[in-house]
Amino acid sequence: MSSDDRIRERVSKAYAEAVETGSGCCGPSKTPKGVAAKTAGYTEEELASLPSEAAVNSFGCGNPTAFAGVKQGEVVVDLGSGAGIDLLLAARRVGASGRVIGIDMTDEMIERARGAIAAAGAGNVEVRKGFIEKLPVEDATVDLVISNCVINLSPDKPRVFAEIARVLKPGGRMTVSDIVVEELPWWLRRIPSVYNSCVGGAISEGRYVAGLERAGLEAVEVVDRLAYDANQMTDLVLSEVPGRLKTVVKSLGLTWLVRALARRLEGKIWSARFMARRSGSKAEESEKTEAPTAVSAA
Ligand SMILES: C[S@@+](CC[C@H](N)C(=O)[O-])C[C@H]1O[C@@H](n2cnc3c(N)ncnc32)[C@H](O)[C@@H]1O
Repeated sequence: MSSDDRIRERVSKAYAEAVETGSGCCGPSKTPKGVAAKTAGYTEEELASLPSEAAVNSFGCGNPTAFAGVKQGEVVVDLGSGAGIDLLLAARRVGASGRVIGIDMTDEMIERARGAIAAAGAGNVEVRKGFIEKLPVEDATVDLVISNCVINLSPDKPRVFAEIARVLKPGGRMTVSDIVVEELPWWLRRIPSVYNSCVGGAISEGRYVAGLERAGLEAVEVVDRLAYDANQMTDLVLSEVPGRLKTVVKSLGLTWLVRALARRLEGKIWSARFMARRSGSKAEESEKTEAPTAVSAA
């Protein structure tokens, strides 16, 4: 097993446990699990309108379909779709003539998402099992790629950025909410719970933008930022994803240490919303696909 596979396996186990045990900071309400830590950005109306299994099991750090200009009839792919909150919000926006495809590697999450899709009666959504580094999606078939607090967990981010560029149609767009970090001590990155909590594997905003541009995407910009304070960062590590760190810290009464560290990191970790698009236009693409037919007919 490669080291990338080992990281994915560990992350998958953490999220399976999180969704199975119902761990999280917020209890059995229609409140996303990360909300205390990551202020997810959904409106009360959006949350109230969703099946509770999707809303309660949300682990996002933004609301990527808000302000994304999703249109009726579009094809949307959600990388790391989890229990399905953004799938259902996107499904409503694309309507019956559109399609939404979620990709996730964790069986327990896929099961939750399928349950939520059935409960919502959404006939235009499906979930495929797979890695975001190797999307089970055809080339140039997607109008909009969304993702919510997932790419930071990937051990191979350049591969994910290249996959986004591959599946987008010419002129297709991307809107991704994710955690970015400016400075993080190397030893903190090594703690599995810190990685699983979306912090340890996060990169800087500058590296994120450069990675998307290197993959060939255009008009890359950061359209929104939410910086976390010390309390929110403490929650991020200790409340959201179960793990040995939380158990050890709590049993040894070391929460004060985590809080002190969180104070030092204040202002250096935030959630950012990135937008980008693939060059070209739909018209150019249909010209390209029509050309060979014209030649063979001649
Ligand atoms: C922090 S949760 C976010 C879930 C969802 N986007 C939300 O907002 O609630 C991360 C999700 O991404 C999935 N995931 C993480 N790394 C992945 C990878 N390399 N390939 C596929 N899925 C992955 C996990 O299984 C989990 O469901």
